[in-house]
Parts: sequence; structure tokens; C-alpha cells
Amino acid sequence: MTAARASVLDAAPSTLEPSVHAHVDPVIEFRNVTKAFGEKVVYRDLSFQVFRGETLVVMGGSGVGKSVMLKMLIGLLEADGGSIRFRGDEVTRMDERELRTLRCHIAMLFQGAALFDSLTVGENVAYALHEHHRDDMTAAQIQERVHWALSLVDLPGIEHMSPADLSGGMRKRVGLARAIALKPEVLLYDEPNTGLDPINTARVNHMINGLKRTINVTSIVVTHDMSSAFAVADRMAMVHRGQIIALGSPEAFRTSTDPRVADFINGHAPEHEDVETLLQS
Ligand SMILES: Nc1ncnc2c1ncn2[C@@H]1O[C@H](COP(=O)(O)OP(=O)(O)OP(=O)(O)O)[C@@H](O)[C@H]1O
Ligand SMILES: [Mg+2]
Repeated sequence: MTAARASVLDAAPSTLEPSVHAHVDPVIEFRNVTKAFGEKVVYRDLSFQVFRGETLVVMGGSGVGKSVMLKMLIGLLEADGGSIRFRGDEVTRMDERELRTLRCHIAMLFQGAALFDSLTVGENVAYALHEHHRDDMTAAQIQERVHWALSLVDLPGIEHMSPADLSGGMRKRVGLARAIALKPEVLLYDEPNTGLDPINTARVNHMINGLKRTINVTSIVVTHDMSSAFAVADRMAMVHRGQIIALGSPEAFRTSTDPRVADFINGHAPEHEDVETLLQS
């Protein structure tokens, strides 16, 4: 193994935070989080913050733990140690009822974004509203919200269609409409562009940026796709071997001399990688 070389991105993340964040409480904070599945250590020290209204792009090789990070944030997986906070509230100590409320504030576009083919598009988008707002939203209000969410993803009026009749790009956008129907403060996108052609990829990126502007949502976007990463990121983070090894502006990533970052961004095979890592991945 080649010893990790220092780079500007290896500096303590706080030194890279834009100064505007210096006196602002983060919306999301992971501190010293650890997570293993049996012998397999996924995180040995995961620490980072996300601030209101920004889009943080998270990158890293397959199996490095990106989806696990998002699932720990909404309590679908439990961290083994450390602290995960949303607006100061400790997620790791929440009970099921509190987690359900949390998931109204933090919505996730899952990897694959599966829709229920037995339901209409409208019923799919309304799904979480029925689950979370059964007692405080009327049927008309739910219908109105579904229309609003579909309009935001540029698919107004397709409530009665079946997901089976939609293209992959449209299905992805319906998945996004389902996530935003709850008017969440935070959106988690897990590989939103996988399987999409360049035009639909650009459309989804445009939507991620549009939602930031129109509903001031705070986002974490996990992606392998570098052009998408640079199209949506306010800041970027790279996960490697159980921790964040780089966190900074897109410009700092673009010009990084850290081989682990540069290889990933330029799509080169990681020559510095050792067999142990390959076997673990
Ligand atoms: N519920 C689980 N039980 C056991 N192991 C799991 C579970 N979820 C994830 N893992 C393991 O944790 C590691 C990280 O998984 P994760 O899905 O977060 O990777 P990822 O970075 O999202 O990868 P990809 O880019 O392929 O989606 C993998 O080794 C995976 O097998
Ligand atoms: Mg994943």
C-alpha cells in the first residue's frame, strides 16, 4: 500500500468550510460514526456536516458505504457508535415514532427508485402522504400536493398513468416527485442518474438544482457520475476506507493532486490500491 499522500483536501474539513458557515449550525452532522456488518467495517470514523440550502455530493467506490451513510441518517440502519444529528436532534436515540417524523423532514430517493407498478403514478406519489398525513390532510389536499410535486418534476397531469408505461427517465422523476411530495427540508439522492441517458441525466441534474432554488431544500447527492457531480455540487466529499478523505469545493476537487481523488474523478484504475482493498470491495 502506498502511504496516503497529503493534499489540500486532506486538511481538517473545517479549514475548507466556506467562512459563511463559521457561525451557522449545520442541518446535518455526523460525528465519529462507526458502522460494521460482522467483520466488515464500513465506517471507522465518519464525520461531516451539511448546511442549510447546500448540495453536498458524496463520491466513493462501489461498496464503500454511501448508501449505508444515507440509511443511517434516516434510521433505516443503526450506527454502532458516534453521533448523527438532524437540526441538533440525535437520530441514533430516536424511537420508531420519532424516526417516522424524521422521515417527513428528510426524504430519500432510493437507489433504483422503485415504483409500485400495481398503483397509478398519482397513488405512488401520494403514498408517503397517506402514510404520514392520514389524519391532517384531506383527499383534495393530497391530490393538490401530488399535482404540485409532479409539476415540479415537469410531469404535470400524469397521475392516472401506470408506471409501467413510463420511460426510465420519467420513472426516476416520478420517484423524485414522491420524495418531494412531503415538502421535506432535506433530500437524499442515492445515484439519481444510474441507467439514464445523457439527456435525462441532464434533466435530473437540472431538477436537483431547481429544487434547491424553488423549495430551498438541503441535499446530499450520492453519485458515480462525475459530470453530474460537478453539475450539482456546492461541496463534495469522498469516502474511502471507512472515512471521508476529502471534503471541499468542486474547484478543490478538480485541482486535487491526491491520487485517490484524482483517479476517481478522472476515471483511472486506482494503481495505488492494494489487494486487501480489492478483496474487501
Ligand atoms: N443490510 C446490510 N447487511 C449487511 N451488509 C450490508 C448491508 N448493507 C450494506 N452492507 C455492506 O456494507 C458495505 C457498503 O454498502 P453500501 O450499499 O453502502 O455501498 P455503496 O457505497 O452504496 O455501493 P454502490 O456504489 O455499489 O451503491 C457493502 O460491503 C455492503 O455489502
Ligand atoms: Mg449504494
